[in-house]
Parts: sequence; C-alpha cells; structure tokens
Amino acid sequence: MRHWPVTQLKLTTPDLVLRVPDDDQLDELAQVAADGVVPPGAVHFPQPWASGPSEQTARNVLQNHWWARGDWREDNWRLLLAVFCDGQVIGQQNLSARGFHITREARTGFWLGRRFQGRGFGTQMRAAALHLAFACLGAELVTSTAFADNAASRRISEKFDYESNGRRRLAVDQHLVEAHEAVLTAERWHRRNHGPTLVKGFDECRHMFGVPAAPEPVDPQVGKLNTRL
Ligand SMILES: CC(C)(COP(=O)(O)OP(=O)(O)OC[C@H]1O[C@@H](n2cnc3c(N)ncnc32)[C@H](O)[C@@H]1OP(=O)(O)O)[C@@H](O)C(=O)NCCC(=O)NCCS
Repeated sequence: MRHWPVTQLKLTTPDLVLRVPDDDQLDELAQVAADGVVPPGAVHFPQPWASGPSEQTARNVLQNHWWARGDWREDNWRLLLAVFCDGQVIGQQNLSARGFHITREARTGFWLGRRFQGRGFGTQMRAAALHLAFACLGAELVTSTAFADNAASRRISEKFDYESNGRRRLAVDQHLVEAHEAVLTAERWHRRNHGPTLVKGFDECRHMFGVPAAPEPVDPQVGKLNTRL
C-alpha cells in the first residue's frame, strides 16, 4: 500500500515472517485468537481481550488493529504485526512507543494461538521486535510486562538478558494481579549475538516512527551485525 508504507515492512527470522496483515490475513489472525490464546480462566493481559466468547475475542483483534492504524501518529504509534509460519498466520507481535524521538523507549507485547505455543516461536518473535527496535529504530530501552504466573513470557525476557524494572499491582476482572516489568538496554542487547532477523522495507516507513534519519550506532557491534545480515 503506497500511502501506508509500514505495510512494506517485513521481518524474517529463521522460521517466521512478521508483517502488517491485509484484511484477509487480519481475519485469519482473528480466527487464530478465537480458537484460543490463553487457557480457560487464565488472565495474561491487563485488558482481558482473549478471555471472553470466541466471537468477541475475534472482534477484539480486528478492532484493535483498526484502532492502532487509525490512531497512529509519529509521536505515538503501535505496530501490530501478524506472525506467519509456512504462510499460515499463528499470532501477533507488537511494538509501540510514545514520544519515541525523545524517549528512545519502546514496549513489546505478543501472543500466539495455543496450538503454536511452546515451539520457540515466541522467542523468535521477540528477537525480531528487538532487532527492529534497537538495530533499525535506534531504541535505547525496550520494556516488557508479564504477569507473575506467565512463565513463558518471563522466561523469554530472561533469555534476552532483560533486567527487572519492578513490580506493579493491577486489578483485572476484579482480581489482584502482580505484573513484573522488565527492561532491556541497547547496550545489553548489543553485547550478545542474537539469531538473525532480516529486515526489508524499513527505509520506506522509517519516518512513520518519528525517526527521520538513520540513527548513529550505539556500539560498533551494530555495524558488524548489520553487515552480517
Ligand atoms: C507468551 C508466548 C507468546 C511465548 O511464546 P512461546 O512460543 O510459547 O514461547 P517459546 O517456546 O519461544 O519459549 C518459552 C520459554 O519459556 C519456557 N517455559 C514455558 N512454560 C514454562 C513454565 N511453565 N515454566 C518454566 N518455563 C516455561 C520454555 O521452556 C521456553 O524457555 P527455553 O527456551 O529456555 O526452554 C506464548 O506462550 C503465548 O502466546 N502465551 C499466551 C499469551 C501471552 O501470555 N502473551 C504474553 C503476555 S505478556
């Protein structure tokens, strides 16, 4: 789509492709969510969008994407990428920021259909989002929040060397939930050799993120990393 250049962005990991879905793909994504994201009764999100009836869950996905697009501004954006494995939609990876050109801080979120969980895809999705944030956008901090009992999400942050950024108490559906905040700095991210993420179409949409020019590498490793990809 010429006038919404973020649709040209494509992130590729060893097993996955991440990109903004077209309407048919978005409908498939909504169906994946409707088929189940969290076990019955479990709460993994501050807004329990995936805990109600399946048609409502599907509509929540559609409306969330339309809202994120309609509300997009260079100083307040939410990138919602559909995740594909062998051409099939399996889940969603988010990267969002407010005032990014000043804060250089972004936040991730992600989910997979239940039948696609536990196969290492979440790790690759986070790797792709971190690559976009640090290597392409020049982020200095990326944060993630997971509920105390969300072992998979917390383990993924641990694998990427996040540090604890404290705990928060939330009321979700009239229940007390403890949320763990984690933060990863550019310095810690660049220190490690991550699996490859190939990025296409970023130059075309860079301005949509409020990042007009190529950021200066924080660390000489960045240059090396980019030439290897
Ligand atoms: C969170 C989510 C995206 C993770 O993706 P995934 O593909 O299932 O995760 P991966 O397979 O890449 O890795 C999960 C890691 O957590 C570990 N893990 C999973 N369940 C665990 C448990 N109960 N206890 C300890 N570790 C656990 C896995 O062993 C793996 O670590 P390893 O690579 O060191 O073995 C996915 O599980 C999901 O969609 N969950 C429901 C929605 C959700 O919770 N979203 C996140 C909200 S913060």
